[in-house]
Amino acid sequence: MPKEIVITDELKVKMGKKNEEKVVEKEELTVMDLPGVGPATAEKLSAAGYEEMMSIAVATPGELVEAAEITEAAAKKIIYAARSTLKMGFESGTDILKKRLNVLKIKTGSKNLDTLMGGGFESGAIVECFGEFGSGKTQIAHSLVIQAQKQDPTAVAVFIDTENTFRPERLIDLAKGAGLDPDQVLANVKVARAFNSDHQMLLAEKASELITKQGLNVRIVIVDSLTAHFRAEFIGRGTLAERQQKLNKHMHDLMKLADSYNLLVYVTNQVMSRPDVFFGDPTVAIGGHVVAHSSTFRIYLRKGKKGSRVAKLIDSPSLPDGEAIFIVETDGLKDV
Ligand code: GTP
Ligand code: MG
Repeated sequence: MPKEIVITDELKVKMGKKNEEKVVEKEELTVMDLPGVGPATAEKLSAAGYEEMMSIAVATPGELVEAAEITEAAAKKIIYAARSTLKMGFESGTDILKKRLNVLKIKTGSKNLDTLMGGGFESGAIVECFGEFGSGKTQIAHSLVIQAQKQDPTAVAVFIDTENTFRPERLIDLAKGAGLDPDQVLANVKVARAFNSDHQMLLAEKASELITKQGLNVRIVIVDSLTAHFRAEFIGRGTLAERQQKLNKHMHDLMKLADSYNLLVYVTNQVMSRPDVFFGDPTVAIGGHVVAHSSTFRIYLRKGKKGSRVAKLIDSPSLPDGEAIFIVETDGLKDV
């Protein structure tokens, strides 16, 4: 879906285009449309990760100077032009409220869990679930795929699978439990195995093409697990900054996806035990502040009594913190 950009005469001037030059309206402008950016500069920018208007618009001149070997004045001009093409201004509370009316709430199968989440997992947001192995993170992912299709038979789910945990057999069981046609459900899931963190990031960047180029009604993007590759590849203190930087970019790409297409991004995250915590629960989520702050909702999952699972909502923009208890059964998530 191209961004709606109305090209005014003023904008044409800012973009370095002469008034009589024909500018195609309402089409997404590319980096090459920026003043002073030719193929060589565009390639250097792209190699440094500045492929989109937004990344340039929010960059500092110094960053572009380094990335594209241009002068600071040229960098400032490029940034200014990129900013002018994007709607980066303020929206009224009324506009935001209108947007909020389009929010979908994707159910999980468990009423308790749905209630905890204010009626379901929200579109336009990143929901992060973290917890120890076997706590149910992947089961929730499979369940969301089913419930989204129950709510809308055309809904497509994208599953970025980093640990080889996507199971079509599991979806078949859940589909039967929800009274859906298993073949239809499987046809509406697009799965990609991510082999390393770069590949994972690339898949997240390319996910929007399923919508823009293939016209699919993508309602959920799942990344299971969000942090496993990052954790395995960046070992030792010295690599922490680089890891966090990459994770930050990844989370931003995911948020942009959620926001631009009003879809739910569901990510799972592992925990580690902190040896320095003596009182209370020593488990903390991987990914530190970057993941914590970029997720719109955070759920801490743990195993409860008699095979139950306890979901604790620990961060949400508008819901009270609380807990929900559910169980994983062959035909779906159920309340106890
Ligand atoms: P990691 O990925 O290892 O960190 O764990 P996770 O949090 O993703 O756990 P997952 O969602 O895979 O949960 C696994 C648990 O779900 C199992 O231990 C079972 O208790 C339950 N489970 C999975 N499949 C079924 C099923 O077909 N029937 C039933 N009754 N329970 C299932
Ligand atoms: Mg899992």
